[in-house]
Amino acid sequence: MTQKKRPKISIYIAMSIDGYIARKDGGLDWLEYGHTGDEDYGFKKFISGIDALVLGRNTYETVSKFDKWPYEGKRVIVLSNTLTEVRKEAELFRGQLGDLGSTLYSEGIKHVWIDGGVTVSKFLEAGLVDAITISVISMVLGSGIPLFSTMNREHKCHLLSTQSYPSGLVQLKYEVVK
Ligand SMILES: NC(=O)c1ccc[n+]([C@@H]2O[C@H](COP(=O)([O-])OP(=O)(O)OC[C@H]3O[C@@H](n4cnc5c(N)ncnc54)[C@H](OP(=O)(O)O)[C@@H]3O)[C@@H](O)[C@H]2O)c1
Repeated sequence: MTQKKRPKISIYIAMSIDGYIARKDGGLDWLEYGHTGDEDYGFKKFISGIDALVLGRNTYETVSKFDKWPYEGKRVIVLSNTLTEVRKEAELFRGQLGDLGSTLYSEGIKHVWIDGGVTVSKFLEAGLVDAITISVISMVLGSGIPLFSTMNREHKCHLLSTQSYPSGLVQLKYEVVK
């Protein structure tokens, strides 16, 4: 079967040493552990190359509580089978992720950032992820919301770079081997 054209799809996420992306209650304060100054770990450069974000419903609900909507100027798609509407800055999608990819591509979207633990695992399982950047925070949380869920397939990845920062954060960049 020929693969439908789709945008590049990237994961860009921070996790604890033990693989969690949030505390059990969704708390994200620990992401700042060790951080000083205005180091952004390459975030501005990354987001400047992104045309659209796809957020899982849980991530969307978390960022919706922030004082300021953090994705001003970017197209944002929220995945949910339970929500019936989302805020005006976002769009709701339910359906096949492959269809979402081909629709976004046909609308001129070239690079998508996918966010949320359940969400990234679903995209990986569908074979739709090209690049993974993981920022490991120097913290063992012990419990929380995991980055990856159980998946039914393996994904070989090719390590592109590692970079460590004075805060203790280590950033790993991979491409997913096709
Ligand atoms: N450390 C970091 O860098 C980082 C980054 C992002 C998020 N987070 C945190 O991680 C937590 C959220 O992650 P999470 O793993 O709980 O969830 P998530 O991926 O944000 O959201 C999961 C939900 O997304 C919807 N969804 C996912 N795939 C779908 C599909 N193919 N079709 C339709 N709906 C789909 C479902 O919503 P319905 O149940 O409505 O159907 C599902 O329950 C939050 O606390 C957030 O703050 C941390």
